Amino acid sequence: MPRRTHVAATVNGEEVEFLCEPRQSLLEVLRENLRLTGAKEGCNNGNCGACTVMMNSVPVNSCIVLAVEADGAEIETVEAIARQGHMHPIQQCFLEGAALQCGVCTPGFLVAAKALLEKNPNPGEHEIRFNLAGNLCRCTGYDKIVRAVQDAAEIMQSAQPAAVK
Ligand code: FES
Ligand code: FES
Repeated sequence: MPRRTHVAATVNGEEVEFLCEPRQSLLEVLRENLRLTGAKEGCNNGNCGACTVMMNSVPVNSCIVLAVEADGAEIETVEAIARQGHMHPIQQCFLEGAALQCGVCTPGFLVAAKALLEKNPNPGEHEIRFNLAGNLCRCTGYDKIVRAVQDAAEIMQSAQPAAVK
């Protein structure tokens, strides 16, 4: 039996502990140990972005992060994007703008797009394409995804309280 390591992390705001083999990826543990199946396994080698999650506020490809590296880290997965049963504007805009077809890439795009809009609430098209370049989609042709992110940015900005003068 391979040696297993104890890991304690915060996942979607909850403290979790698990045992994992040193070779196991964060994606594998999220999906198989913690039953968080939102992050998808596409390429499993760091090239497609389907497995994107936030680790200490930075988007990472969880298939090439070792689960033991998550010890002490804060992880946020696509499951945490919707709040209290309400879709996040990014989810809403992907849905309404038909920015998904098979959906395998979608969780990764949602996590990466949310990270971008938290960094820059009003990115231009070029910045959106640049920041999402690590996320591959075989179905949509990308234009609808870019438009969905722009629409979400608009909604999120209009929801901000007006600045006090
Ligand atoms: S499954 Fe992780 S980058 Fe493709
Ligand atoms: S919707 Fe199928 S890969 Fe993007």
